[in-house]
Amino acid sequence: MSDSFHPETLAVHAGRRIDPATGAVTPNLTLSTTFERAADGSLPHGLNYTRLDNPNRHALEEALAALEGGREALAFASGQAATAALLQALSPGDTVLLPDDIYHGTRVLAETVLGRWGLRVVTVDFTDSAAVAVALEHTAARLLWIETPSNPRLKITDVRTVARLARAAGALVVADNTWATPILQRVLELGAHVALHSTTKYIGGHSDALGGAVIFSADAPPDFVARVRENQRLGGGVPAPFDCWLLLRSLATLPLRVRAQSATAAQLAVWLATEPAVARVYYPGLPVHSGHAINAAQMSSGGAMISFEVHGGFAAASTVAARVKLITRATSLGGVESLIEHRKLAEGPHSPTPDNLLRLSVGLEHVDDLRADLAQAITGLAM
Ligand SMILES: Cc1ncc(COP(=O)(O)O)c(C=O)c1O
Repeated sequence: MSDSFHPETLAVHAGRRIDPATGAVTPNLTLSTTFERAADGSLPHGLNYTRLDNPNRHALEEALAALEGGREALAFASGQAATAALLQALSPGDTVLLPDDIYHGTRVLAETVLGRWGLRVVTVDFTDSAAVAVALEHTAARLLWIETPSNPRLKITDVRTVARLARAAGALVVADNTWATPILQRVLELGAHVALHSTTKYIGGHSDALGGAVIFSADAPPDFVARVRENQRLGGGVPAPFDCWLLLRSLATLPLRVRAQSATAAQLAVWLATEPAVARVYYPGLPVHSGHAINAAQMSSGGAMISFEVHGGFAAASTVAARVKLITRATSLGGVESLIEHRKLAEGPHSPTPDNLLRLSVGLEHVDDLRADLAQAITGLAM
């Protein structure tokens, strides 16, 4: 499959081949956990044991590498398994720089679980490049972790600038590209060594398959790549063949889905910003967003995630979440159905997320229906 194809073409064809034995157009599902050796002990098909290698996982990894423009991809059982495999490819005592707004689970995993193992975590406001430069110098960090737009406050990191600073300091650059997808943002081209995805989100797109993946740039250090591969195969956090099959199937419609979802989100964000019950909208597609210009230079739209604060604090946000009828109250994001979440409830009282913040994952429903549902949910809130 030529890398010069457009993303829409890669999304449909990468990782797929006509099965030579049957002529099947869609990939067969290989559930076997083990593969026969020849009489001489060799593995005639190059496959040994499904934790190490599986045709469905191979196909998914090939497609993800092509779509993200990387040299190699590794698929995992979840986004968190991918994050753990990356961070444990460092050594105990190493420091990682995390942004101050980031997926809650990444922070807790790094600080708590991997903290016990010896990882040191330093948090910086990544919208302040000078602060990042100082932190790199003072901590001798081995790895810098970007997430843009960030979860849940949609802060924007200038990937080119921050990656350049990190590379100059000898640090590895990982970018969690889950919210943007390779369709809207090309993090490897912007300077990251590794793109990470919770494939559970937009790549899966239907809220029915859990997964994660890392994709390495052509210049990612080979010894680091080898360690992550070892963590995948020996750590064993690999995806099931059927999940790989589902994810590969979903990949074909990724460009269509994310563009449609982003277009709807852009309209909803503009409307929410005019509503008196809404205190603040976090959406980088809005010109008033502090990261708007940087986002426009690195992402082809504002994406399909919106966070907004309502007047009336925690209680008002709970009321909005309780009132929605079409939009589903649930965690996660990136599916065809719109989801809303009162984030403080999910993250707990110690999280820095504002009490009155609601996070909206915009799905594929008609914009008018979503707007009407939100309008009835925010009507009459205290201002
Ligand atoms: C940005 C981001 N990264 C990583 C993850 C973790 O992914 P998973 O739930 O597949 O482990 C999430 C989950 O919400 C996320 O939003």
